[in-house]
Amino acid sequence: MTTVRRPFTVDGKPFFTLGGQSRNSSGYNRAEAETAFHALKLLHGNTLEIPVYWEQVEPEEGVYDWTSVDTLLAMARENGVRLVLLWFGTWKNGNMEYVPAWVKCAPDRFQRVINPYGNPVWVLSSHCDANYQADLRAFTGLMDHLKAQDGDQGTVIAVQIENEPGILGSDRDYGADGEAMFDSPVPAGLLERVAGLSGGPVYDAWQAAGGNESGTWPEAFGVAAGEFMTAASIADYIDRLAVAGRAIYDIPLYVNVWLREAGWRQPGGTYPSGGAVTRTLDIWKWATPHIDLIAPDIYIADADGYREVCDAYARDDNPLFVPESAPWGSNAWNMFYALADCSAVGYHFFAIEHIVGPDGGVNPVAQDIVGSFHATAAAIPLLLKYQGTDRIHAVAQHEGMRDQYLDLDGWMGVARFGYGGIEYAGMDWRHSGGERALLQQPQAPRGCGLVFQAGEDTFYLVGGAYRLGLRRKGPASATLDLTQNSDWFRERQAPFVSVDEGHFDESGMFVVDRRRNGDETDNGIWVEPDVQVVRVVMAP
Ligand code: DGJ
Repeated sequence: MTTVRRPFTVDGKPFFTLGGQSRNSSGYNRAEAETAFHALKLLHGNTLEIPVYWEQVEPEEGVYDWTSVDTLLAMARENGVRLVLLWFGTWKNGNMEYVPAWVKCAPDRFQRVINPYGNPVWVLSSHCDANYQADLRAFTGLMDHLKAQDGDQGTVIAVQIENEPGILGSDRDYGADGEAMFDSPVPAGLLERVAGLSGGPVYDAWQAAGGNESGTWPEAFGVAAGEFMTAASIADYIDRLAVAGRAIYDIPLYVNVWLREAGWRQPGGTYPSGGAVTRTLDIWKWATPHIDLIAPDIYIADADGYREVCDAYARDDNPLFVPESAPWGSNAWNMFYALADCSAVGYHFFAIEHIVGPDGGVNPVAQDIVGSFHATAAAIPLLLKYQGTDRIHAVAQHEGMRDQYLDLDGWMGVARFGYGGIEYAGMDWRHSGGERALLQQPQAPRGCGLVFQAGEDTFYLVGGAYRLGLRRKGPASATLDLTQNSDWFRERQAPFVSVDEGHFDESGMFVVDRRRNGDETDNGIWVEPDVQVVRVVMAP
């Protein structure tokens, strides 16, 4: 059992944030934001992530207009949901798109990153104090405003500082200030931290460069020096913003990441150099003690790649939070790995507006992702209770999987996937009606969800498109007991005391909505997102 550190709270209690992130331009005004709030409702989410734009709130230097922030606060309260505000300040996706015009148009004062050929790129330099001071004034203005307008209500549960910070277009700043840092000693505290690591990319780069106890960036980190120095510089810039912001209004702050794990993996080329990628994470963790967590934006579809990223960011010093993930299919099942195996403390996907169909309901193409979020919403009390223990198990049907074995305490579980034929006789009219019952569906939804073992013989299931069979573990002779028919799809369920559909009420109590028995339980325990939670109590 590991204690899950949960930075997000509401009314002083741990809060699991579930929802989506709006599209980039949805935070400007009420009309733009409306679809995002509507989509959040369709998704059964509790929190909307939405940007606040430096260019909008400080249109002239020193002149602030917080109307858009007030509108978002009002809309969230009207909808009974929470907000995570995204500060689109110095950095947005490794460039400077959201800095005000008066910053964009004064490059002599607000210095840009200079690339190796001596040309400025479209990114503000982290080495330029004028950039920092300008962002600081606006960011602390935001925190000040939030404290005044929301301090007593806590509508905003967290602020993301910047968006995917880093440099696109160069591995580091080759301007005078960047060069000066490059040739100066690496802070002793960082090298001490690195020397104390037992491995990892930063340690390995340091070892490869000779494991020097002191030295300049290239002396300490060899070919990785440009990226590592940039990481330290940007992380420090952001941590100083966090210190100032927190001194005004102490709410959770985090940083998101454009991942490295794609394509050529070239810093400044295929991903922003200096961002908190897996390769620089140890530097970022050292440099950002005032940031609650560093959060990967996961757009990786394959199971192995997805897991690799979750494993890298779920660390003792960094709870996993997924602020952005793909709005398409595979995320609908991959996400359960993050929830069960990596104790994710919150989960969102990007461009939430896309789940809204032309009739205002859920777009059929988004059904998988909406189903998985609906199931997760129903399971929040269980997540808060069982994450970090061995009582939570992910079900995820990856390519070609016909079933998945679950190693449960005292029980063997098999989640079986696939629809069609006899299995449908064992569901009910709500989920087995019409053509779906009669035809093998060529594009059946993938099975996914969560299985919680709440007690020796009690299980809770959420998700869809799988059936859980349970058998007691025991001596080999017992597992071969012929009263337990071994025919794969007609395999009967081990005897149970009860199978109930239900939900958790405000106080966390399970409320039974419907009893299930007979045919509806014969071929394994099934669940679908609209059923919410199924509780099974097995017979002793
Ligand atoms: C990640 C960024 O953080 C978002 O603002 C958005 O640009 C998406 N990428 C687009 O895929």
